[in-house]
Amino acid sequence: MANKYSIVIAGGGSTFTPGIIGMLLDNLDKFPIRSIKLYDNDEDRQAKIGGAMEIILKERHPEIDFLYTTDPKEGFTDVDFVLAQLRVGKYEMRDKDEKIPLKHGVFGQETTGPGGIAYGMRSIGGVLEIIDYMEKYSPDAWMLNYSNPAAIVAEATRRLRPDSKVINICDMPIDLMYKMADMVGLKEWQELDFSYYGLNHFGWFTAINDKEGNDLLPQIKEHVSKTGFADGIGSGQHVEESWMETFTKAKDVYALDPETIPNTYLKYYFYPDFVLEHTDPEHTRVDEVREHREKDVFSMCQKIIEAGTAKDIEIELDAHATYIVDLARALAENTKERFLLIVPNDGAVPNFDPTAMVEIPCLVGKDGFEKINQGYIPQFQKGLMEQQVSVEKLVVEAWIEHSYLKLWQALTLSSTVPSAKVAKAILDDLIEANKEYWPELN
Ligand code: NAD
Ligand code: LMR
Repeated sequence: MANKYSIVIAGGGSTFTPGIIGMLLDNLDKFPIRSIKLYDNDEDRQAKIGGAMEIILKERHPEIDFLYTTDPKEGFTDVDFVLAQLRVGKYEMRDKDEKIPLKHGVFGQETTGPGGIAYGMRSIGGVLEIIDYMEKYSPDAWMLNYSNPAAIVAEATRRLRPDSKVINICDMPIDLMYKMADMVGLKEWQELDFSYYGLNHFGWFTAINDKEGNDLLPQIKEHVSKTGFADGIGSGQHVEESWMETFTKAKDVYALDPETIPNTYLKYYFYPDFVLEHTDPEHTRVDEVREHREKDVFSMCQKIIEAGTAKDIEIELDAHATYIVDLARALAENTKERFLLIVPNDGAVPNFDPTAMVEIPCLVGKDGFEKINQGYIPQFQKGLMEQQVSVEKLVVEAWIEHSYLKLWQALTLSSTVPSAKVAKAILDDLIEANKEYWPELN
């Protein structure tokens, strides 16, 4: 690999693109870059972000080549890393994922329950297409994929592109580590050593130490048992009211297993009734994102384009992007640092399905990742994970086989759906809404 790296961001029109570029530019001393490209299949959306980023790059780092394109050949030729952040169907379809299940008395959410299943059925094809572009035009590149729903997308990559250089990641545990660092008076999540196991958006921390090996869990447990994660500083990404509710609710999620610290997404599986009671069916999370993050990011970009300069603009650095920069650097420079990745289990959790995609710590270097064995897991987590991983596997099988039956089974098996009857009613509405995106089911 070259000493200065070339990067393409797939899903260039994402609200996260400016924050990621900001973070890349902030870390050039440890991860030098010669070229940044944006690729998206929505020319207009991407042009708004791309036009502003072009001005920033020209003013602040003219030595870095920059372009944005909807042409795969141009986007994927001569790149070392593909950072993938697609949202197939965009917010328009997220809106349906969140609101359709509500009509049937089930909560709707981006990555969990029926909404996550619907999004998964859209994402698989989009992400595979990006892998294929990478392999065609830059066969030595690595793809770091954080397109959601990561659990389903990761299972699809395991099944359908098992030899591809793809690493699936998620920023939620990083945000929680920021908060835990703050609880014990440390600044950065990198100051913590951790053990963790689970599926994506479905896992538990089992150890948190500082770099001297001191056990920080007792102090963190004490804190989480009282206020959840609500008063931790975090990465700055999740700050709206609905997130505060999730961070507070973590104390009730924690109560189910006081030996571990849970991922906040378990709220949806343990307390679906609470989630439903606290949802306004006319105004769900996607409305919040559009009113805040999307509006803020796009109006900042518009301001830069209109002014023709970004002189007075400070881009907010995206904290979850530090993780991406560090991971890319680990692959490029063989740093062997520890990261939480979504990888084939294959014995790392010995009493769990070897074919599952699990989220566990790994050491990352130039040849990829080495898994760190997490040992035997308790019955409670094992039971929950068996059920949830089956949902995820059935979704991928349904996508591959175009099977209505398997998708109905997936929805019925999801602990968020009360019966096969409700599962079928939701499924039929989702099929209608997703005609443009899902394979036709038989
Ligand atoms: P967004 O809608 O603002 O951006 C997504 C972009 O993807 C859009 O510009 C869209 O046109 C583009 N896109 C859709 N289908 C495409 C395709 N087939 N090929 C190329 N481009 C395509 O969405 P967002 O809110 O910024 O989120 C982007 C993604 O990042 C989502 O999948 C989100 O869930 C994910 N995300 C992941 C993490 C994580 O850590 N795992 C954190 C935050 C966001
Ligand atoms: C998003 O911000 O769109 C998601 O990735 C998570 C959330 O905040 O709902």
